[in-house]
Amino acid sequence: MTDRTAEDDRSKPSIARIYDYLLGGKDNYAVDREIGDIFIRDLPGSPAIALANRQALVRAVGAIARDGISQFVDLGSGLPTADNVHQVARRHRADARVAYVDHDPMVVARSRALLATDDRATVVQADLREPEAIYHDPDVQRLINFDEPVGVIFSGVLHHLNDAERPADPVRWWADRMPSGSRFYISHFRSGENGETRVLEEKLQGSIGRGRWRTDEEITDLFGDLELLEPGLAHCSLWRPDPAPGDGGADSVMGGPDLTVWEQLISCALARKP
Ligand SMILES: C[S@@+](CC[C@H](N)C(=O)[O-])C[C@H]1O[C@@H](n2cnc3c(N)ncnc32)[C@H](O)[C@@H]1O
Repeated sequence: MTDRTAEDDRSKPSIARIYDYLLGGKDNYAVDREIGDIFIRDLPGSPAIALANRQALVRAVGAIARDGISQFVDLGSGLPTADNVHQVARRHRADARVAYVDHDPMVVARSRALLATDDRATVVQADLREPEAIYHDPDVQRLINFDEPVGVIFSGVLHHLNDAERPADPVRWWADRMPSGSRFYISHFRSGENGETRVLEEKLQGSIGRGRWRTDEEITDLFGDLELLEPGLAHCSLWRPDPAPGDGGADSVMGGPDLTVWEQLISCALARKP
């Protein structure tokens, strides 16, 4: 399927375009909005979940870059939006290089258009369940020096793999292959063990055949032997929050705000390869 054909395929919903709709974007079709509206109706905080996820990703990329890492592999990168990984990383490290990976041809076409004149960022169309192909992709090899630590990002994507698709496998593959000091970021739908998330899981499985809310324990297990960095697994909204003006800093914020039930439905953590 060429990018053009895929871009014109308005008959099937796409995870990337549903997410774009929830974030208030314009890169979506009626078929995507239909599913997005089910989210909004049955889980009215869905836009808040999408936003909390995105904001945590921005903070995580900043944290990884400040730790001295200037190369990133972003798996399941999604449609370009505000504050994409290469833009955030370069605020901290001007030389940052990013390989975006997504299996959705429309995501790849839009990302290519954004990155057309950028020789330090690329996008590869691939399934993250095939890490070997991603690693050996010539563009990825050109940009990323795999002898140096890498920031490997799985933001909002592993919950789109069902258990039978073994979501921990790609994390383990990259963890085994990357040098010591590499960072691994995962954000993931967190099971509220409530009616809302059960309904949504059913809707997603019924419409696009995938979508798994996992418990804290299941999400933590995805990291395998990697060393979780402070504060460990946390709700995205509470993961290293930016201090509010005049605030005492992250510690005081951690104990502070009351989260909505929605914000409790997405968690994240950053880990380091020892
Ligand atoms: C919800 S979006 C998240 C986008 C971005 N990472 C973020 O957190 O804002 C999930 C993205 O993962 C992509 N995706 C889902 N399953 C994938 C797979 N098996 N391989 C590669 N990409 C995948 C979808 O196409 C979509 O663009």
